[in-house]
Amino acid sequence: MSMKDKTSPPDKQESCDRCKVKLEVKEYIGVKMTVCSSYRGLKNALRLCHPCGDIQREEDNERVRIWTIQQNKERYAVRLAKEVENIPRRFKSASTGDFADAFKPQSEKWIASDEWAATLAGPPGTGKTHAAFAMALLYCEIEGKKDSPAYDTFVFITVPELLAELRHDAVADSAGEATEKYKTIDGILVMDDLGAEKSSEYALSELYRIISYREMHILKTIITTNLGVSELSTKLHDRIASRLTSGRIINFKGKDRRTDK
Ligand SMILES: Nc1ncnc2c1ncn2[C@@H]1O[C@H](COP(=O)(O)OP(=O)(O)O)[C@@H](O)[C@H]1O
Ligand SMILES: [Mg+2]
Ligand SMILES: [Zn+2]
Repeated sequence: MSMKDKTSPPDKQESCDRCKVKLEVKEYIGVKMTVCSSYRGLKNALRLCHPCGDIQREEDNERVRIWTIQQNKERYAVRLAKEVENIPRRFKSASTGDFADAFKPQSEKWIASDEWAATLAGPPGTGKTHAAFAMALLYCEIEGKKDSPAYDTFVFITVPELLAELRHDAVADSAGEATEKYKTIDGILVMDDLGAEKSSEYALSELYRIISYREMHILKTIITTNLGVSELSTKLHDRIASRLTSGRIINFKGKDRRTDK
């Protein structure tokens, strides 16, 4: 029976569901088939011509990508909201006004820019962690996100704690969990005390994944470190150091505020 056979019952599915082009019926090895994409996609009832099959496939991939980010957010939201609530008392009222006059405009400039990273570098006790909280809180104020849950505000993690999470994931067979969590935070992520301890190759490569993802997607990240710029590359690999130095570097000097009371 050919398509032109007027006596055959009309096939209700003979046109493409997207562009309505008639789907040709051909015979392959004795089986009658419509020349459409065999791809059925997320909406499994679709019958598509070849070009529409390709478009549909791309749209579905994008849908899956967005869905995955959303799932990640829901999955980690509660845990991260807790971390935001738990701003350490010491730093709750940290303000950019606590520093030299230039610090506030410098912070505002960084927040408004599309620089992804601000690295606060200097010896212990010079106020880096205090400054990181001050910048993050200023960001929340500017973005009007002071009271919204995590992911839209900021998350603070010390790098030693982050490394411990990564190590835990590695033995608990949940490799990459922490990496996923910190990669996708779309507010500010503060990574405190980078380079404070020796890291394994595994930890460094996970750290690199977080940092390179955040660099690529221009996700605001504040890093504090006791290392100088040249030490960053020897202790943490060039590929991490070069990404950090592509952002803004703010140097902290002076006396140790902890001991100089
Ligand atoms: N500009 C500042 N004004 C008031 N207190 C500060 C200031 N900078 C740092 N401090 C306090 O000094 C102590 C050490 O600062 P911190 O930020 O922890 O140093 P670092 O992270 O460089 O080791 C903290 O108790 C902090 O709150
Ligand atoms: Mg500190
Ligand atoms: Zn089509």
